Amino acid sequence: MSNKKFYISTPIYYPSGNLHIGHVYTTFMCDAIARYKRACGYDVYYLTGTDEHGQKIQDKAKENNVTPQEYVDNIVASIKQLWKELEITNTDYIRTTDLKHEQVVQKVFSKFLEQGDIYLGQYEGWYCKPCESFFTQSQLVDGKCPDCGREVTKEKEDAYFFKMSKYSGRLLDYYKSHANAVTPSSRLKEVITNFIEPGLEDLCVSRTSFDWGVKVKEDPHHVVYVWLDALFNYVSALGYNTENPELFEKYWNEETEKVHVLGKEITRFHLIYWPVFLMALNLPLPDKFLVHGWIIMKEGKMSKSKGNVVYPEPIKEMYGMDLLRYYLLREIPFCEDGVFTPEQFIERCNTDLANNYGNLAHRSLSMIRKYFGGRIPAYKGCINEFDAGLEAAVKLSTNMFFEKMNNFDVTNAIACIFEAIDKANKYVDDTKPWALAKDEAKKEELESVMCHLANTIYTVSVLLSPFLLEGTTKILNMLNCPEHLRNYEAISLPFGQLGDVQIADAITPAYARLDAAVEVERMKENIYTRK
Ligand code: ME8
Ligand code: MG
Repeated sequence: MSNKKFYISTPIYYPSGNLHIGHVYTTFMCDAIARYKRACGYDVYYLTGTDEHGQKIQDKAKENNVTPQEYVDNIVASIKQLWKELEITNTDYIRTTDLKHEQVVQKVFSKFLEQGDIYLGQYEGWYCKPCESFFTQSQLVDGKCPDCGREVTKEKEDAYFFKMSKYSGRLLDYYKSHANAVTPSSRLKEVITNFIEPGLEDLCVSRTSFDWGVKVKEDPHHVVYVWLDALFNYVSALGYNTENPELFEKYWNEETEKVHVLGKEITRFHLIYWPVFLMALNLPLPDKFLVHGWIIMKEGKMSKSKGNVVYPEPIKEMYGMDLLRYYLLREIPFCEDGVFTPEQFIERCNTDLANNYGNLAHRSLSMIRKYFGGRIPAYKGCINEFDAGLEAAVKLSTNMFFEKMNNFDVTNAIACIFEAIDKANKYVDDTKPWALAKDEAKKEELESVMCHLANTIYTVSVLLSPFLLEGTTKILNMLNCPEHLRNYEAISLPFGQLGDVQIADAITPAYARLDAAVEVERMKENIYTRK
């Protein structure tokens, strides 16, 4: 195996309810990048998992009359099933309730205590007696408890604090010399201006108001703050500070490119606390925080109370796994918010998949069958400026694709491939193979057209395979593309690798055209509920 190594992670999701298309978006993005990097020859470690401790989970379990462990076990089983159905290629799945993880958190906490980074202090806040909860000033609603609306009193309790203040300068220096550590850079600027430059406040890292968490070993009346617990998933999964540190040594080092993907609402935790914890342990920092925007609905954020939470299961059931993956990765602008609508979902799938990519393959392969009995003519170079133009477009798209993907810009990488597809569809209109076929003297031209189309479809299909799993495989199979050509090394060879091959007998459309009026209604009826 190659010695180029790559590490990528999703945030670990709260199993406080079923996951929706926002979580699926992040997981698809990481999966596409993981598949891309593997195709580029990297040894990839791809991590996802669940963040299972905390007050919210404890409350949810109580509501459902089960223990917190039973509650999370049940949801985690359905999350793992979802990732399996969506063909997510994660290497491992970390749960913060894994014994291995809990022990790592305890050891790290002890070490911080020992070296004086964590100290026992007093937490001061507004306390609601009936709710047994502390709130900060800003959490109060009209000066009252935000949960029950009753009076709150100012109280103090013992709590452990992490000396963030000690690390402000080091963190700022780090980001000054690592300007590319965050994509987009505006997210880093935000965090620097709002939190780091004003000076970091010490962070309260223990709680006594509930007990569903990792117990502080030295003081088991306290549980570890859920973010300190959660962030360490990124290394506990690798066996950091355990008896089996091999994966940690292999992937969490300076040579491995390490990327955390996350939504924009949790930058403060990832861009401040996590690097500081790592600094305090003298561990390498990740190379990149890739911060994406939100999938929102026309009415704003998805929320249970609005009844507009979109679940992935019904979409998968109605349209298979390619369409949701493709739509989310192509439609939501890179690092920005994007609106999900059934109308755009159907429109995007029809335009890009059925009409452009699918139809290019279907019409081209049908012509190869019709004019050459299914034999792809061997490549003989360019006969005219149309051939040369198409080859140049494919080359340019391929180069641009790699450039975008190396910056993790999945959205625009896909767009680059579609430029080649558009060009190929135009090439068919320009070269008019149906007219060439009527003239025996134009046979060589016709051969060249079919060969150019076959090679273009082959190249774009290999490029698209991290984003369209079923359709690209189907098309490559219809092309009867040999296995040894189905990789990024082969498509980087000179144009025309695929030739003198007998394609499949039966050519069928890889993507059906959807009836927009019917399907939009069907989506509206089904996507907001999970069976
Ligand atoms: O924050 N659009 O978990 P979480 C896009 N446990 N992405 C979305 C999204 C949306 N509408 N909604 C969720 C947590 N996401 C913590 C993380 S990590 C050490 C601990 C995605 O279940 C996005 O990646 O609230 C976001 O950051 C994450 O899910 C939050 O998941
Ligand atoms: Mg959240």
